[in-house]
Amino acid sequence: MTEELLVCSNLCKTFLSPEGPIKILDGFNYTFYSGESVAITGASGSGKTTLLNILSGIDEDFSGDIIFKDRNFKELSQIKKEKWRREEVGFIFQDFKLLPRLTAKENVALPLQMLGQSRKISFLKSLEILEKLGLKDRSNHFPTTLSGGEQQRVALARAFVNEQSIIFADEPTGNLDPSTSEIVLRQLFDLNKEKQSLLILVTHDLDLASRMDKQIKLINGKAL
Ligand SMILES: Nc1ncnc2c1ncn2[C@@H]1O[C@H](COP(=O)(O)OP(=O)(O)OP(=O)(O)O)[C@@H](O)[C@H]1O
Ligand SMILES: [Mg+2]
Repeated sequence: MTEELLVCSNLCKTFLSPEGPIKILDGFNYTFYSGESVAITGASGSGKTTLLNILSGIDEDFSGDIIFKDRNFKELSQIKKEKWRREEVGFIFQDFKLLPRLTAKENVALPLQMLGQSRKISFLKSLEILEKLGLKDRSNHFPTTLSGGEQQRVALARAFVNEQSIIFADEPTGNLDPSTSEIVLRQLFDLNKEKQSLLILVTHDLDLASRMDKQIKLINGKAL
């Protein structure tokens, strides 16, 4: 069943620069529902990454309200917000951001271990999802010994391993060739459907955006 998951009201964000203030978000309103996939598009510099940082609780310097399941972000203490991020949120980045000194299996297990799960259980869950993505025989590889597509699929596994309710993806296929990109996207959409998370994905690729349930275009700091 879908429910309102993130309700954004009148989000505003201004950066201060030597040339004066730059208004990036200017009354952004939108309601995200559980289980749906939403593409955020817009010109370079329109504020897509800025918006993701705000929605994921990384950037707290904004005005307006974000309500997650009836709780206003502004009422959460720092500790509660970090806990929320660990429990509810997964991230997928253009440059993968795997930890270089950890193997694929260890990278995927890390979010579970940060929530207090044992090494044994976290490794079992990690191997289970890596196997689902066809990467079982790469589980002991370090990131530098994986192809770009494999690294991004490990990053997908890490984002979804804890059944997070929201997945943020910022140009997740931006560094991949078209055929690898298609493999990664199919796995991303399959995982999202299976886990029923809210997927919020930033992209320049309008074909990709059209494959998502909904699309938001950021123009002049507002959702179109
Ligand atoms: N810390 C900062 N201080 C001042 N200006 C900033 C800061 N961070 C971002 N900006 C400006 O805010 C605007 C929005 O940046 P943002 O990274 O959100 O754009 P974007 O839509 O993600 O672009 P791209 O598609 O190129 O990734 C840009 O013009 C950028 O220069
Ligand atoms: Mg960006």
